[in-house]
Amino acid sequence: MNVDSVRFQHLLGIEGLSREDLIFLLENSQQFVEVSQRDLKKVPALRGKTIINLFLEPSTRTRASFEIAGKRLSADTINISGSGTSVSKGETLLDTARTLQAMNPDILVVRHRSSGAAHFLSQELTRTAVVNAGDGMHEHPTQALLDCLTLCQHFELAPSELKGKNITIVGDIRHSRVARSNIWAHQLLGNKVTLVGPATLVPHEFADEEAFGGGVRICHTLREGVEGADVVMVLRIQLERQSDNFIPTLEEYTRQYCVTPQVLEGAAPGCVVLHPGPANRGIEISSTLYEGTQSLVEKQVTNGVAVRMATLFLLGSRGRKENV
Ligand code: CP
Repeated sequence: MNVDSVRFQHLLGIEGLSREDLIFLLENSQQFVEVSQRDLKKVPALRGKTIINLFLEPSTRTRASFEIAGKRLSADTINISGSGTSVSKGETLLDTARTLQAMNPDILVVRHRSSGAAHFLSQELTRTAVVNAGDGMHEHPTQALLDCLTLCQHFELAPSELKGKNITIVGDIRHSRVARSNIWAHQLLGNKVTLVGPATLVPHEFADEEAFGGGVRICHTLREGVEGADVVMVLRIQLERQSDNFIPTLEEYTRQYCVTPQVLEGAAPGCVVLHPGPANRGIEISSTLYEGTQSLVEKQVTNGVAVRMATLFLLGSRGRKENV
């Protein structure tokens, strides 16, 4: 795999990537799918490299898959979380990151509750590539990549051919970094994005020209929003934010916006469902749909490893010609 064409030093978001960059990342991710299907799931691509996973917010999928990805590339991976480190004694994010950089890691993967945390570190750290594993309400780029990779597989399309699809995203868009990264990705690929949810959770600014180029449609009823959809992405209702009164009650939200097989009867034939997880079954998505034949949730998780292997490989091999 030739890594000479990697033009970015960090992966901070989908915003700012070119269509070419996005397709390049997806094509590279496709090549790593096969490694995880082998009996011996390891390649020497990042042997001698060090990756630190700094997760200062809870995570199951992203954290586990970055660790597995690093190990399958033969890198030395170290995991750090907030509890049990000097962060819990009050050390700042920057001091923590500089301390870690002093040990010469090649890549720092960061999850943080503050939007812009990964970008901030990328400007302050001089020798370490930064990967955004989710920053506040801002972006979660590798989630969007694994979602797009899953759709390429499902529709049997090359990344450059994943266009003209109707993608409906349902739920708490306001607080969702997954939604933002996916909107940018689908804008670049040439898909049509519809956002669905109550007005409090789907701000009208998302349809503004300045926000995402003006290409996003907003609906406040599920029936209208899923009509003709090829893909319905259901987002988690962030239960930890419900004291902010964005929705009257969970029951009311569920009555209007819970995605079920019946709701999808108005979607395009063959419509599939994505959910980034973790899911609140019976609130934003029915258990039947979550586990049903239209659901690609498990494939999303599997593809998370390939996408993260590609990301780590490309950033860890910059300036080197290498074969996997
Ligand atoms: N989709 C996602 O980011 O899940 P985790 O919070 O479990 O990593």
